[in-house]
Amino acid sequence: MKRQLLDRNEVLQGLSPKALQALRAFKKDHASTYIPGYYSSLLIPALSGKFRIPEDRIILSYGIEDFLSLMFEKVSERKGSILTSEYHYTYYRIHAKFKNVRLLTFRMPEAGDSFSFDIKDFIRKYRAHKPEMILLASPANPTGNVLSVRELEVILKNVKKDCPVLLDQAYRGFEKKYNERSFLRLLEKYPNLALLRTFSKYYALAGMRIGFALCGKKVKELLNYENRFLGLSRVLEETAIAALNSETYYRRVAAEVKRDREYLISKLRAKGLKVFSSNANFILLRPSPRAVSEMKRIVKRQKIVLVKFFDDGTVRISVGLRKYINALLKDFKSIEA
Ligand SMILES: Cc1ncc(COP(=O)(O)O)c(C=O)c1O
Repeated sequence: MKRQLLDRNEVLQGLSPKALQALRAFKKDHASTYIPGYYSSLLIPALSGKFRIPEDRIILSYGIEDFLSLMFEKVSERKGSILTSEYHYTYYRIHAKFKNVRLLTFRMPEAGDSFSFDIKDFIRKYRAHKPEMILLASPANPTGNVLSVRELEVILKNVKKDCPVLLDQAYRGFEKKYNERSFLRLLEKYPNLALLRTFSKYYALAGMRIGFALCGKKVKELLNYENRFLGLSRVLEETAIAALNSETYYRRVAAEVKRDREYLISKLRAKGLKVFSSNANFILLRPSPRAVSEMKRIVKRQKIVLVKFFDDGTVRISVGLRKYINALLKDFKSIEA
């Protein structure tokens, strides 16, 4: 069996039968022709209906990655900086380095089994550096904690209205508690807010590369965003629409992922390991350096890899299928805190 790297938080239960059917039934002439009309899309009207937000306030992208790359480019053109949290998705740093953008950070203190966002430190850093853009993630990767609506609103109140605030919600759907309506309401109140979503995680379509941003009224203008003249890939749009129409399936998968996450956490904690609570489809551990070395030795030999090691000594585990989790727990049998 070939070694499989499944350490990027994919949802291994797979796409819904309806989405798979849309992919299989994709029409030959849909491959050969553009979506009818200029600046048009099939997916945007579907998202507009689902989230009750005007079509012209939705941006499609090839995954959140594509959107972020564009955002870093915009900031780079303006020679500005971006303010994000101390622990963040590795790619924020990579985009920043590549695009020559200064990435500023605010603190994320640890209390008990969770991280939090230090909003006071955010305000201090914002006032001191006047960044061009704010980039937050909730649930956060790799720490798994969430930003509450209240905290987001404090941030928005303290940021100038011409500074875009991007909330990366790649792991939307795996939270312990979440109030979608309250977040969507903020989009109406704060014209500079954008919620970044993806079909990669909850909808199990990571290989398809589909993302979208739900935007406040001024976001496109602030970003000088140019709408797509010829649309996104039609096969992606059609598959994504079928996924949106499979809520029962995806709700069931998310419930399974959350159950498996708590199972994995409890098994690892029972070994005395420091495991943080999580609102995503991965967990974060801080084992002793000795345990990390032992884990690295084991993972090197594994055929299915769910584990990712970070330079600061923390370890992230993607919540794979239950059979992979059990195999991992068996491999880690000898690991002690
Ligand atoms: C926080 C965060 N944002 C964005 C992405 C990328 O998402 P996409 O697959 O939509 O490009 C990831 C992928 O792991 C992520 O962890």
